[in-house]
Amino acid sequence: MTADLATVDLADPQTFLDADLHELFGRLRAESPVHWNEPRDDRPGFWAITRHADCVTAYKDNERLTSERGNVLSTLLQGNDSASGKMLAVTDGERHRAVRKLMLKSLSPRLLGAVAEQVRARTFGLVRDAIARGECDFATDVADHIPINTIGDLMDVPAADRPRLVEWNNRTLSRISSEDSEMDEWLARNEILLYFTDLADQRRRKPGDDVLSALANGLVDGQPLAEDEVVFNSYSLILGADESSRMSSIGAIIALAQHPEQWRRLKSGEVGVETATEEVLRWTTPAMHFGRRAVADVELGGRTIRDGDVVTMWNTSANLDEEVFADPTRFDLARTPNRHIAFGFGPHFCLGAFLGRAHVGSVLEALRDEVAEIRVPGPGTRLYSNFVHGYSSLPVELVPEPR
Ligand code: HEM
Repeated sequence: MTADLATVDLADPQTFLDADLHELFGRLRAESPVHWNEPRDDRPGFWAITRHADCVTAYKDNERLTSERGNVLSTLLQGNDSASGKMLAVTDGERHRAVRKLMLKSLSPRLLGAVAEQVRARTFGLVRDAIARGECDFATDVADHIPINTIGDLMDVPAADRPRLVEWNNRTLSRISSEDSEMDEWLARNEILLYFTDLADQRRRKPGDDVLSALANGLVDGQPLAEDEVVFNSYSLILGADESSRMSSIGAIIALAQHPEQWRRLKSGEVGVETATEEVLRWTTPAMHFGRRAVADVELGGRTIRDGDVVTMWNTSANLDEEVFADPTRFDLARTPNRHIAFGFGPHFCLGAFLGRAHVGSVLEALRDEVAEIRVPGPGTRLYSNFVHGYSSLPVELVPEPR
């Protein structure tokens, strides 16, 4: 039991390993829905919003709650994001709308239909290989190879470079353990930026029909993007695409192993893959929070957020809000409607939602069609993060469907 909410620290990655998150967020929603997380050591305090309706309100209020000073705790608490105004997720206003439009041209569902088909074929291949081995690590043998190859194909990243990018992604967003230092995160981020500086340069000289060439050569208001805008947006695509989809897929297999009755509903066709995908996204919510900085006083949930304060929206909690979801702590693959905010809300709503859904859906479909039984013998290794919820390793046994 969480004794005193005033002692809870949502910036500390250890909190997410130690606490029962259903219980912790349930108490925050009930007792302190717009909660002041006290400052610790040399780190400032911040607001934590935990109800669905308040999170949606905050996500929509992009004028008073800006992304331009960071959009996750790690940068917000430092005071700034070095990519501010250059990377879509930390740019607001007119520039955000214009660059988002350019990027959406390459990522619209209409263009991605064929890509979704490739995702499906690749996932079926990986799941069949895992079955043939009998035992596998679902994180490193299956999930790690799905999204990086989709976004890698879309950006035409050479196949040999992709494992390095997954490793840097892991170190940038979420440490594998408390042993890893902040310096490791910083170095990994720089590796990715340098990598895309080189690749963007090549695409400027010799454009292809990939997303990176579109960024490197596209025009906004008649002008090409600045070099650092191209590099930061490439970074955000590779990171955004890879980490969250992987974590949802790994979370899906755990949830299915823990809820055999739901697994049977998927297997029997009683629940369709599209509906099940939404519940897996709600249940796993890989991006636990996003955040903003107030640039004016804002009244929310009876509290006054002051100009300059850091505000975080806890998607994990909003997706468990009893005001929106009946019986929210029940994993129910048939849940409809399912108004989860795993992809955020409002102007910064996830640009890759279609691909994220395609990744998770392909895993569910491959498991349904190829696997008779899922066994998860151990707890797996959780990431050490206040941002990404998920696993770096998960040993599983996949029993094949008899042919
Ligand atoms: C299950 C998978 C995914 C989840 C849960 C997820 C979650 C999110 C969330 C919550 C946001 C909102 C950030 C904010 O409000 O500050 C976001 C934005 C974004 N996501 Fe995703 N994402 C996923 C997959 C992807 C994929 C596959 C891509 C790339 C193809 C991607 C690229 C982006 C980008 C570029 C933004 C910034 C959009 C903007 O600021 O306008 N994401 N994502």
